[in-house]
Amino acid sequence: MRLTVLVAALLLGACGRTAGERPIGKKIEIVVPLGLPPLAVPGDNPVTAETVALGKKLFFDPRLSADNTVSCASCHSPEHGFGDGRKTALGVRQQTGNRNAPTVLNAAYSPRQFWDGRAASLEEQAAGPIANPIEMNLPHGECVEKLKEDPEYRVLFAKAFGEGEFGMEHVQRAIAAFERTVISGNSPFDRYFYGVDKTALSAAAVRGMAIFMDRKRGNCVACHLAGEKTALFTDGLFHNVGAGLNAEGELTDLGRFAETKSERDKGAFKTPSLRNVAQSGPYMHDGRLKTLREVVDFYAGGGSSNPYLDKEIKPLALTGLDREDLVAFLESLTGELARVR
Ligand code: HEC
Ligand code: HEC
Repeated sequence: MRLTVLVAALLLGACGRTAGERPIGKKIEIVVPLGLPPLAVPGDNPVTAETVALGKKLFFDPRLSADNTVSCASCHSPEHGFGDGRKTALGVRQQTGNRNAPTVLNAAYSPRQFWDGRAASLEEQAAGPIANPIEMNLPHGECVEKLKEDPEYRVLFAKAFGEGEFGMEHVQRAIAAFERTVISGNSPFDRYFYGVDKTALSAAAVRGMAIFMDRKRGNCVACHLAGEKTALFTDGLFHNVGAGLNAEGELTDLGRFAETKSERDKGAFKTPSLRNVAQSGPYMHDGRLKTLREVVDFYAGGGSSNPYLDKEIKPLALTGLDREDLVAFLESLTGELARVR
């Protein structure tokens, strides 16, 4: 009996059995920090201790690039609020793209990924940069072969998805699982706003918050949603705020339009969450604004006029002090990462 099982196992192994698509192992709970809504996790990729550990290793591993120089974390590093601190991203062989690396923090909540929303999930998104010639430039087949050569990865994939051959879908699932743990809340704003600690915010930040929330003053909350129970500081939608115009006033990047071909999406980009925003400059999809003060001044000026400018963007009557207060408020959105158990 024992022998038959052994022979069967060997035969299956020889035929290149594929690992199961679903994670095996210990399902873990992501303890959502104060201020964030419950986190939706796809039914076919439950977060397990094993997929998170594997995904984390993959995220920080430069071997996922053609010349072993660029990892996901090169452009989404914890030291830069999971962005890269650069105007536009820098990939293999010093190639620069034309968009700013957004933070990965709280991307788990985003209904669509990328500035133009072209990926529907974190799983789908993770495939993009690995093969992208100006980012990591590693074709998916080669990526999987490279990982299979490493005995440590073979063990980690087996623990996460079961014995058998693993493929690109497993790489994507593990990275997505890790990213679901990279969520930030419990900032001074949350502790103040959700009533835990009325001393958590400075007087300047409290004034800035009032401007941010007031539809007649800052009107920021029209798109960067913050409500009674939770605040993601984004509506998950796409708007044209007038960033991305060249000196001639023309749109240089059509943004969401490339996906929808709908006229009103020209120059529209995904509303970024503002959590930990003080750490992730420079700002906007093209990294054109270096500091939060520049962002506030940009909005105060009514964005940049163009035919597709969102109707919520208008010149704002804000004094110098008001602007400093808004910056103080934005700085109060830096929080802490989720715990897992
Ligand atoms: C060379 C720099 C670079 C590398 C390497 C890179 N990214 Fe990115 N990442 C970007 C840029 C730039 C964007 C925005 C591109 C766009 O919107 O068109 C982005 C977008 C994203 C987003 C979408 C966030 C959002 O809110 O829409 C996620 C998630 C992400 N990257 C995760 C990853 C993962 C996982 C890896 C590794 C497999 C990775 N990135 C590798 C630069 C990089
Ligand atoms: C009409 C919707 C809308 C309104 C109103 C709005 N924003 Fe934005 N915000 C966006 C979008 C969309 C982007 C990205 C635009 C781009 O890159 O082209 C953005 C980008 C930003 C960024 C840069 C974040 C990053 O990671 O690059 C900051 C900071 C910001 N907004 C703060 C504010 C503040 C402060 C106000 C109020 C004064 C405000 N926003 C009003 C939609 C809006």
